[in-house]
Amino acid sequence: MTRRFDESTVVLAVETSCDETAAALVMGGNDVLSSVVSSQIDIHARFGGVVPEVASRAHLESIVPVVRRAFDEAGIAPSRVDAVAATAGPGLIGALLVGVSAAKSLALSWDRPFIGVNHLEAHLYAGLLDDPGLEFPLVVLLVSGGHTMIVEMRGHGDYRILGRTIDDAAGEAYDKVARFLDLGYPGGPVIDRVSADGDPDAIPFPRAMMNDGLDFSFSGLKTAVVNHARRNPGARSVDIAASFQAAVVDVLCAKTLRAAAQSGARGVVLGGGVAANSLLRSEMQRRGSEAGVRVALPSRAMCTDNAAMIAAAAWHRLRSDGPMDLDCGAYPNLKLSEVPRGESR
Ligand code: KG4
Ligand code: ZN
Repeated sequence: MTRRFDESTVVLAVETSCDETAAALVMGGNDVLSSVVSSQIDIHARFGGVVPEVASRAHLESIVPVVRRAFDEAGIAPSRVDAVAATAGPGLIGALLVGVSAAKSLALSWDRPFIGVNHLEAHLYAGLLDDPGLEFPLVVLLVSGGHTMIVEMRGHGDYRILGRTIDDAAGEAYDKVARFLDLGYPGGPVIDRVSADGDPDAIPFPRAMMNDGLDFSFSGLKTAVVNHARRNPGARSVDIAASFQAAVVDVLCAKTLRAAAQSGARGVVLGGGVAANSLLRSEMQRRGSEAGVRVALPSRAMCTDNAAMIAAAAWHRLRSDGPMDLDCGAYPNLKLSEVPRGESR
């Protein structure tokens, strides 16, 4: 039977690429009926980072209860689902396999189409979920724990990477600096919080590659933080955190707005976990309005990992490419330009 995917199509999506077990039901690509996220932060906190094996086991325990809750919160029955989606990459292989296997099993038993989703593409769609009126071309700053890139989104599925980090991702730098300063895990939200009590101008940390194209580098900044703290044992960690954050945000805002100007974008959208950062949000908005650029800030819940964005990306891919065969695997190193596929496609 050939199925049509339209405004009434309901997608059940699951997301298990890292340390969040999530499920969502989304209609027509942007009407979020429910979005449930079960975080494993407490489980990994005592290790100071995500332990892949522990993450896979926790996903396995949580996936069915989380999917059940998504149905309870949406108030619909499984029979209303038209397609089932899962993050197929990039991410931790064992973690991805749990979500892909669960989604394929449901698709098979309900006789519904399955689709594997690129997690990075889904982060791009998170911004559009909250603001579907945005018009292409857009520039998306995708800043997460594993990725930092400026993407020109020219249309659905039509992307060009304008700049990317040449070493650490911005979220990774937050996490490493927080660990070094003994502030806790995960580092991003902690540094965000404690920076409110610090002086962002206390230490003039370097803005790497500021006038050097649209790529980023954060590993030198991390080293500068470590060197400063060692040489100044009396320095307040809140001042170091606030100054570090000011340097990261300065570079992210400057390069994103430069990319928007150079590419003639009609707006700038933020995505990924670091896009939940208070200073990044306020500075991007302030500098954007000074430059006459529309800045869309998805809700914090849509910035960090969730399954509603997976369902949104799935809906667009179903319309453009159709469903996938059930031999779709899990692809830990999937690139933004790659669509997950089964062997038979
Ligand atoms: O997108 P995400 O949830 O997972 C990945 O796909 O990586 O991003 C997680 C990253 C972590 O590095 C975390 O420290 C960072 O996003 N993060 C933040 C904030 N909330 C999460 N970084 C800065 N400020 C925040 N408020
Ligand atoms: Zn993510």
